[in-house]
Amino acid sequence: MEINNQIAVVTGVSKGIGLEVVKLLIEKGAVVAGWGRNAPDFQHDNFHFFSCDVSDEDSVEDAFQQTKSKLSSDIRILINNAGYGVAGKFEEMSSKDWKSMFDTNVHGIFYVSKRLVPAMKVADEGHIINIASIAGLNGVANFAGYVGTKHAVRGISHSMYMELRDFGIKVSTIYPGSTQTNFFDEIEGTIANENMMRPQDVALTIVQTLETHPNYFVADIECRPLRPKGKK
Ligand SMILES: NC(=O)c1ccc[n+]([C@@H]2O[C@H](COP(=O)([O-])OP(=O)(O)OC[C@H]3O[C@@H](n4cnc5c(N)ncnc54)[C@H](OP(=O)(O)O)[C@@H]3O)[C@@H](O)[C@H]2O)c1
Repeated sequence: MEINNQIAVVTGVSKGIGLEVVKLLIEKGAVVAGWGRNAPDFQHDNFHFFSCDVSDEDSVEDAFQQTKSKLSSDIRILINNAGYGVAGKFEEMSSKDWKSMFDTNVHGIFYVSKRLVPAMKVADEGHIINIASIAGLNGVANFAGYVGTKHAVRGISHSMYMELRDFGIKVSTIYPGSTQTNFFDEIEGTIANENMMRPQDVALTIVQTLETHPNYFVADIECRPLRPKGKK
């Protein structure tokens, strides 16, 4: 898809991978609607922040209506990035944390995507990229809830692409390994470090995936740090 002049929605834009995606899309000439709880420290004429908690369907509807009236409803790019993880022993995890992860990481993708798919169908063109995780491919001790959400993202993404491919809509899933972001701030025992991937590299892969030929579809992208423990 030609990114120049397209309207893109990116969720979770205050920092990390989402913010890097915003910056790259802007460089490529897109008009970006950032839907998030907190605005980033980034300004550009083509960047528009809309307050949105993706775990709350009313908040998503509000962001959609505001984007429609300020920009357009003809949105052909969606990056479902907002997400977080709570670590802890399975039996000690609070039900509130467990449900809240699913509300954001899984239900958020549903609320946001269902609002944007109809216009993509009318345009006969669209690309949704869902950010899963390596945790969407394997089990991880002390991370069952998060792992569950990201496995759900994989299944939902694959089902969406099968349903939407005949409408010219691609649904891709990216499974990043550890990435240097604020994701780890709340996770005991792991701190972001330079052996992890850089968020700008994950963002570049996302944007390159958007730029592919209309009949070339990348379903899954697994990316990992080459040397997660540094040079030996
Ligand atoms: N870092 C990693 O190692 C890694 C690896 C694989 C996958 N991922 C995934 O990559 C995505 C981005 O994470 P990141 O690493 O960039 O972490 P990050 O730096 O913590 O950024 C997360 C972003 O998501 C937003 N967000 C969280 N809950 C939200 C909600 N309910 N509504 C709207 N926005 C919300 C945050 O906004 P606030 O400012 O409001 O908190 C923030 O902008 C997540 O889906 C994460 O699961 C990360």
